[in-house]
Amino acid sequence: MEPNKGLVSALFLSFLLHATMASPTPKPHIKPRPPPHHPCRHLTFYFHDIIFNGKNSKNATAAIVGSPPWGNRTILAGQSHFGNLVVFDDPITLDNNLHSAPVGRAQGFYIYDRKDIFTAWLGFSFVFNSTQHRGSINFAGADPLMNKTRDISIIGGTGDFFMTRGVATLETDAFEGEVYFRLRVDIKLYECW
Ligand SMILES: *[C@@H]1O[C@H](CO)[C@@H](O)[C@H](O)[C@H]1NC(C)=O
Ligand SMILES: *[C@@H]1O[C@H](CO)[C@@H](O)[C@H](O)[C@H]1NC(C)=O
Ligand SMILES: *[C@@H]1O[C@H](CO)[C@@H](O)[C@H](O)[C@H]1NC(C)=O
Ligand SMILES: *[C@@H]1O[C@H](CO)[C@@H](O)[C@H](O)[C@H]1NC(C)=O
Repeated sequence: MEPNKGLVSALFLSFLLHATMASPTPKPHIKPRPPPHHPCRHLTFYFHDIIFNGKNSKNATAAIVGSPPWGNRTILAGQSHFGNLVVFDDPITLDNNLHSAPVGRAQGFYIYDRKDIFTAWLGFSFVFNSTQHRGSINFAGADPLMNKTRDISIIGGTGDFFMTRGVATLETDAFEGEVYFRLRVDIKLYECW
């Protein structure tokens, strides 16, 4: 039997229409790469933590307020200081000199939260009240402090830093025994109002 030429050409036409109009280009199943992140604001500060050790009460900016049963509040406990809670009110400076004029205060706490390695959890604010900056930036996150650099979250802000969010890269710039350490804080804000 002779094939139905009309039906064949109709099918062919519908195939062509389908191929050219219905789906312009089939999308490959590849996740689109997110756009690169660029901070809207970039700031660098240092802050200085001097832990009370029983002798430096005039100089100390931090105190051990919690200790595990095997320790005390004058000296950080054994087992990687696990269980110690330290509260601080530290000067913030623009350079790495403890004696530079402070531009604000770093206020909050850290908890040592692992027995087999030095690591902490940080929750604190940078509080500014100068002509240069007014307001606060709030930080929170895990601080694996044996790493050269580590990132913590910037979860909000007030004043000049209203509703901000971002990431802060911490680096231990110096430490002296278990009494003094200095952190370099590289602040990258990705939400600026
Ligand atoms: C305060 O403590 C720091 C860190 O231990 C030390 O470098 C500095 O000399 C001390 N200042 C005074 C006045 O004791
Ligand atoms: C705290 O613990 C340390 C280390 O175990 C010890 O040398 C020191 O005497 C203790 N201090 C107090 C006030 O108990
Ligand atoms: C901020 O500084 C101003 C002027 O120096 C002062 O009047 C104000 O009380 C300060 N605010 C806080 C919260 O310290
Ligand atoms: C810390 O350093 C270790 C080893 O270099 C690495 O595996 C880990 O991802 C780092 N962690 C953070 C949070 O940077």
